[in-house]
Amino acid sequence: MKVLITGGTGYIGSHTAVELIQAGYEIEILDNLFNSKETVLDKIKEITGIRPVFHEVDLLDYQKTSEVLARGFDMVIHFAGLKAVAESVEKPLWYYENNIEGTLNLLKAMKKTGCNSLIFSSSATVYGDQGVTRLDESMETGKGITNPYGQTKFMIEQILQDACVADQDLSVVLLRYFNPVGAHPSGLIGEEPKGIPNNLMPIVMKVATGEIPALSVYGDDYPTPDGTCIRDYIHVVDLARGHLAAMEHMQKGCTVYNLGTGKGTSVLEMIKAFEDASGKTLPYQIAPRRAGDLPELIAVPDKAEKELGWKATLTIDDAMRDTLKFLGR
Ligand code: WQD
Repeated sequence: MKVLITGGTGYIGSHTAVELIQAGYEIEILDNLFNSKETVLDKIKEITGIRPVFHEVDLLDYQKTSEVLARGFDMVIHFAGLKAVAESVEKPLWYYENNIEGTLNLLKAMKKTGCNSLIFSSSATVYGDQGVTRLDESMETGKGITNPYGQTKFMIEQILQDACVADQDLSVVLLRYFNPVGAHPSGLIGEEPKGIPNNLMPIVMKVATGEIPALSVYGDDYPTPDGTCIRDYIHVVDLARGHLAAMEHMQKGCTVYNLGTGKGTSVLEMIKAFEDASGKTLPYQIAPRRAGDLPELIAVPDKAEKELGWKATLTIDDAMRDTLKFLGR
C-alpha cells in the first residue's frame, strides 16, 4: 500500500509518517513548507531509517498536485492546511482559499488518477458550542464555530460527505482531533510553529526556553474545579496511531471518529505537569478570558475504540517528558 501524506513535514503529519513507515507502509510526502522545514525528512530518516520521497508542492497548484498524484497512490492522508485560529480571524479569505481550494484540488487530482481513499485531518472545533462538555460523533456540527479556521474544517467535512454521496467508490474518514500535545519520544520531531504560537503547549515551550517571559492563563473564573479551562490533550504519537488504525479499517462512504483520550486536564494542571517533568517553575500570570474559549471540552472516544480498535495509551506526563526531550535536542 502506497500512501501520500499532504502536510507530512508538519507536526501531526511527520509523526504519522513515522508510524506508517514503522508499520511497513510506503509513503511519500507533499508539503509547501509554509509552516515546516525540509530537515524534518532527515529526522524521519533518523527515526525509521527511511527518508520519504518528498514533493515541495502547494495544493493550490492543481497542475503540480495532479502530477504528484499521477505517481499512483492507494490512499491520501490530508493534513496540509493553515491552522492558526487568531490569524484566521484576521485573514479569513486566505484561510478559505488555502484550506478549501487546496482540498478541492486534491480531490480532483485523486479522482483523475483513480485514488479513492482519503483520511482528513479534522478538528473537535466542528462541534462548536454544544452546551455540553463531552462530545460524540452523533452530535450536529457547525453551530457556534467562532473562527474561519474552524469553519474551513466544518466546510471540508461537508464537501467530503457530499462527495461520498455522489461517488460510491469513495472511502473517506474524518478524524476529529482534540488537543494534540507532546513530541516523538526520540526527541527528534515535535511542534515548531513559525511566528507567534496560539496554542497552549507551544507557548509553554517558549516560556520554558525564555523566548516569552511568562504564560498568560486565560481566565481562572470558569465553572471548573480550579477555575481554568479543561481540554482533552492527546499525545501526538497516539494521534498518529489513530490514523494507522483508520487506514486499516477503511470502508466505503464517509465515516467520522473523535481522536481524544476521554480525560480532561485544566490549564493549571498542565502547568503543574510541565513543572513536575522539568523540575523548574514555569512563570505564569492570570489574564482575562480569551474570546471564544469554552470552559470544558472532552472527547467521547468510544467509537474509535469499538470500530478501529484504537485507544490513546500515553499520558500527559509522557507528553511533557517527550516535549522536554524535543526542546533539549
Ligand atoms: C487550550 C487551553 C486556553 C494559550 C484550539 C483550536 C482547535 C485546535 C486546537 C488547532 C485553553 C488556554 C492557551 C495561552 C492559555 N486546532 N491557554 N494561555 O483553544 O482548545 O483549541 O487549538 O490547531 O480548533 O480552537 O487550544 O491550545 O489554544 O488552548 O491559558 O497562552 O489553554 O484558554 O483553555 P483550544 P489552545
